[in-house]
Amino acid sequence: MHHLLVTGGAGFIGSNFVRWMLQQHPDLQVTVYDKLTYAGRLENLQDVAAAFGDRYTFRQGDICDAGRVAEVIAERGVDTIVNFAAETHVDRSIMDPDAFIQTDIYGTYVLLEAARQAGNLRYHQISTDEVYGHIEGDHRSLESDCLAPRSPYAASKAGADHLVNAYFITYNLPITISRGANNIGPYQYPEKVVPLFVTNALNDQPLPVYGDGQQRRDYQFVLDHCQAIDLILRKGVIGETYNVGTGTEMTNLAMVEILLDELGKPASLIRHVEDRLGHDRRYCLDVHKLMDLGWEPDYTHEEAIRATVRWYVDNRWWWEPIRSGEFKQYYEQVYGKRRVLSAP
Ligand code: NAD
Ligand code: DAU
Repeated sequence: MHHLLVTGGAGFIGSNFVRWMLQQHPDLQVTVYDKLTYAGRLENLQDVAAAFGDRYTFRQGDICDAGRVAEVIAERGVDTIVNFAAETHVDRSIMDPDAFIQTDIYGTYVLLEAARQAGNLRYHQISTDEVYGHIEGDHRSLESDCLAPRSPYAASKAGADHLVNAYFITYNLPITISRGANNIGPYQYPEKVVPLFVTNALNDQPLPVYGDGQQRRDYQFVLDHCQAIDLILRKGVIGETYNVGTGTEMTNLAMVEILLDELGKPASLIRHVEDRLGHDRRYCLDVHKLMDLGWEPDYTHEEAIRATVRWYVDNRWWWEPIRSGEFKQYYEQVYGKRRVLSAP
């Protein structure tokens, strides 16, 4: 691993990963390839550009554009691809799945084919726990479980995972896959629940909790995810998939309680609103396979939530311009006519 192509590197997890890798590996070169959709922002990488000089390069482009992808791989001398590029928000996938099918499935195919044509480059796919679907009882998803995605987003990510595995089996492409839990931390676009609720609360706006708020998620600090990907790139077994999460779970309402406590804001901001269509009640991962590589998380849920809240409190320069732009229309579309189920 000498020169990484990080697709989707201007988004939330990708930008944290680029910073992490450049800090950890002094000989590494990184090229970020990103379309800069609403979720991709050069501000997420402005300190990286300043700190790492010519070890970091940015190229704008779409992962569905095979010619441009091949050109950047050749121009930069890439030997490893890590694919974060995706449409990522479940609510947007419910309103309009088209871009999800294009980017998350077809775009992954384009990258796999580019990796193959360039001489079987090392390829890592960033996937999600959502591909397992809603998990019943006490079961924790194992990497060997059947995929049972339930939203257009999750289905498009599952389709990509199948393609990645097919390229390993058919062409011997040296791949790995990681399936991450709900990441939180710096630079997450405020459509996702934790940054949405922090920034709403800072503006004394209500927090729209879907349904009863008893859905269970594994809120993982983004740097724990980045460390895991780094480890898989160096020590993961080619052809294998690794779950990445804390291996524990909490309800959305418990997450909200910690978030409000860190901000010193009242529970009266909570509004239970009409649920998300097809809302998965529970995700929970078995992470022993990753731990066997020597990984363990540094952050508990509570530490991750509190650290994330503090970042948003300290970095209004980052999120205030976002919330005053395109986001206002999006917010109105998703929440404007949503039925309130209970308010204090
Ligand atoms: P994000 O929405 O913050 O960023 C996505 C990035 O991809 C943006 O920079 C965007 O500009 C770029 N992009 C979108 N379409 C593109 C295209 N066609 N060509 C090139 N670039 C394109 O997403 P994120 O939360 O950082 O997620 C990154 C990856 O991690 C995704 O693959 C997602 O499925 C996966 N994942 C996310 C989480 C989570 O909790 N956020 C958890 C597990 C897995
Ligand atoms: O689990 C990994 C996945 O986590 C990633 O693959 C996705 O890219 C990422 O968006 C995230 O998906 P979720 O749907 O779990 O995340 P979101 O932040 O949208 O919602 C988290 C939980 O909070 C979920 O149970 C829905 C609930 N929620 C969400 C929003 C936006 C609310 O109650 N109210 C809200 O307004």
